[in-house]
Amino acid sequence: MIERNFASGTIWTRDCIEVMRGMNSETVDLIYLDPPFNSKQDYAAPIGSQAAGAAFKDTWSLSDIDVEWIDLIERRNPALQRVLLAAMTDSDKSYLAYMAARLLEMPRLLKPTGSIYLHCDPTMSHYLKLVMDAIFGRENFRNEITWQRSEAHNTAERYGNVADILLYYTRSERATWNPVHTSYSPEQMGRFRHTDADGRHYKLDDLTAPRPDSDSGKFAWRGVTPPDARLGISPRAIGGMVGRGSDTHETRRQTSNGRSQAVHRRDAGQAAAECLD
Ligand SMILES: C[S@@+](CC[C@H](N)C(=O)[O-])C[C@H]1O[C@@H](n2cnc3c(N)ncnc32)[C@H](O)[C@@H]1O
Repeated sequence: MIERNFASGTIWTRDCIEVMRGMNSETVDLIYLDPPFNSKQDYAAPIGSQAAGAAFKDTWSLSDIDVEWIDLIERRNPALQRVLLAAMTDSDKSYLAYMAARLLEMPRLLKPTGSIYLHCDPTMSHYLKLVMDAIFGRENFRNEITWQRSEAHNTAERYGNVADILLYYTRSERATWNPVHTSYSPEQMGRFRHTDADGRHYKLDDLTAPRPDSDSGKFAWRGVTPPDARLGISPRAIGGMVGRGSDTHETRRQTSNGRSQAVHRRDAGQAAAECLD
């Protein structure tokens, strides 16, 4: 295993491209990136604040491009070069070249189990997704997360821009995923109106699923074939339910405190009856 050559909790205040080049490979579990968004504004920390004097520029032109970034992109990832060429304006090209040069360093740093979250907004998210596909591989794209801002931006003559975007990619298919369980809200629990003898909540549902263009699920159950729908469950699964004597199919969910469980049940008898209607 490769040793980490930096202390946990270190904060660097230099260009991240230089910092990353000094870091050993496969030593990082997770990268969260909140870079400039190409907002076409320049920012300065308020006078009197602890950060006073700090500033960064988020306006981009071709003169900002370092030739070294272009060499790097051409040499390391020709597909990425094509993405840059697709950008509509010089400003967008320049921003993407800056981002691409830095993002190119990141796969090397991540462990095979690692993940990366790139925070951006709709100004460049569609281009950045192509950049991320070219660097991390389309197969490693996991989610596009929409982060709704708490303050509404009232914009005349169009919908308010109220969302940031987080692009979530993994280093490989072996990425760590820690499931997060939360308790059900009273509204969600309200959907499970029945309670069994063990105090577990469940709801009744039918087994049919619309899909008129497919023969899948169109089988006879107790001599009846669903006329305009299909059964969303296999003959074997129905057989299993009935074989257990319960006529039910369960999907269980465990909440974080481990105490309350909601149990989703599909009643095979009811479904069969509905098929007859
Ligand atoms: C969108 S702001 C994020 C601010 C921060 N996450 C926060 O919530 O206050 C972008 C930040 O990236 C920093 N930045 C820009 N280029 C950088 C680079 N090459 N290396 C490291 N940081 C950079 C800027 O100074 C700025 O603070």
